[in-house]
Amino acid sequence: MDDTQLDGDLTRVLVTKEELAARISELAAEIDRDYAGKDLLLVGVLNGAVMVMADLSRALTRHCRMDWMAVSSYGSGSQSSGVVRILKDLSTDVTGLDVLLVEDIIDTGLTLSYLVSNLRSRGPASLRVLTVFRKPEAARNPVEIAYVGFDIPNEFVVGYGLDYDGRYRNLTSVGALAPHVYS
Ligand code: IMP
Repeated sequence: MDDTQLDGDLTRVLVTKEELAARISELAAEIDRDYAGKDLLLVGVLNGAVMVMADLSRALTRHCRMDWMAVSSYGSGSQSSGVVRILKDLSTDVTGLDVLLVEDIIDTGLTLSYLVSNLRSRGPASLRVLTVFRKPEAARNPVEIAYVGFDIPNEFVVGYGLDYDGRYRNLTSVGALAPHVYS
């Protein structure tokens, strides 16, 4: 689905499908270099990271393992609840592995802080974070983010895995949701 099929649900497109593809390729090249000779495990945070996991993993030039976690975050609203709960845990024992946690978006960083401390307690050889989008408030969070796709303004965005109330994940670009959709 592209933005022309949305009938005014977006105020504007922030990142096009082409820009997303180009940036994911650049990040994959960096990751290829940084993890040369290592056995990389990509951990995708469901559901939002599905698109980036599919594109990033295929843009890498060597094998990687993939696993998934699901955590509760916003429910159907657009404000962070601050409560993080594991809904689905990893199938992989990450002890001694080089783990790259793959996130769709970091807003307050609450979800990320929880995930990083949770994964770190399992004893991986290394743990880094990639996010496709980062909002300004994330700067206040002390967790280091090794790979950032795009820094975006503090607006509610949808597409490329990001949803509002379960919708818009399959939008190929990323855009700001028009207020009439959620008010
Ligand atoms: P945080 O804990 O405040 O950093 O929020 C992170 C989670 O909130 C993300 O993984 C998303 O599920 C959701 N989220 C934050 N901002 C947006 C947005 O603009 N659009 C869609 N989901 C968002």
